[in-house]
Amino acid sequence: MRIDVITIFPDYLAPLDLSLIGKARTRGLVDLRVHDLRAWTHDNHNSVDDAPFGGGAGMVMKPQPWAEALAAVLDDGRAELGADAAPVLVIPGPSGAPFTQPQAHALAEVPWLVFACGRYEGIDERVHEHAREDLGLDTRVVSLGDYVLNGGEVAVLAITEAVVRLLPGVVGNEASLVEESHEGGLLEYPVYTRPARWTAPGSDVERSVPDVLLGGNHAEIARWRYAQRLARTAERRPDLLSAHEASRADGAR
Ligand SMILES: C[S@@+](CC[C@H](N)C(=O)[O-])C[C@H]1O[C@@H](n2cnc3c(N)ncnc32)[C@H](O)[C@@H]1O
Repeated sequence: MRIDVITIFPDYLAPLDLSLIGKARTRGLVDLRVHDLRAWTHDNHNSVDDAPFGGGAGMVMKPQPWAEALAAVLDDGRAELGADAAPVLVIPGPSGAPFTQPQAHALAEVPWLVFACGRYEGIDERVHEHAREDLGLDTRVVSLGDYVLNGGEVAVLAITEAVVRLLPGVVGNEASLVEESHEGGLLEYPVYTRPARWTAPGSDVERSVPDVLLGGNHAEIARWRYAQRLARTAERRPDLLSAHEASRADGAR
């Protein structure tokens, strides 16, 4: 997979050199390139923003650097991936549809992603139109959640990590991806490791791992884990549980 990130803060993406994503880059599983939007400015101040038409607080990202940046990134990507290659353009924004695990799976199937990181009050709306209508790009505004960040970079870090860890070979034991929270619409069961009995420093309570996990009966463990997933989802995310039950009822019909 190729990923291009356009931002005015390239250093913000440095964590993508670390851990499993960094290793995936080193191993050539993902080709991630970060571009400084200011490279496509032509004034002495390298300005990327201007005052909003209609007045109001804050600044808006100008369309011209974005159009030039997208053209350059498309040219560069097509030189490598082929003249017909077309990325999905992801524009992080709080006004987008919330990012979910099913979307992470869908984006993991895409060979080329381009992220456009907004700052200030966001990117001039005509850049979205230009990307969709003139460049013909599948352009998606994606929100990390119902709150406002200062820029799109944190969203790109999160979305990239969620997507790249699903690529074959990135996570060592791919079975570990299957029963995770949000797979199959439920949260994960509680997990434990050694020692089987443990007392926290300063506590006089000894806490034990549930007996079923120590017995080695895999069918029983699977039943217990499924029950725990249901109970945890009911407690923490009842909204997910009703969707899960509706999809099971659909499947049973
Ligand atoms: C201060 S925000 C702009 C918010 C915009 N004025 C609005 O109300 O929709 C600046 C940038 O941060 C990013 N951003 C903020 N909140 C986000 C969220 N929840 N998910 C994804 N990106 C977000 C976007 O790139 C956005 O262009």
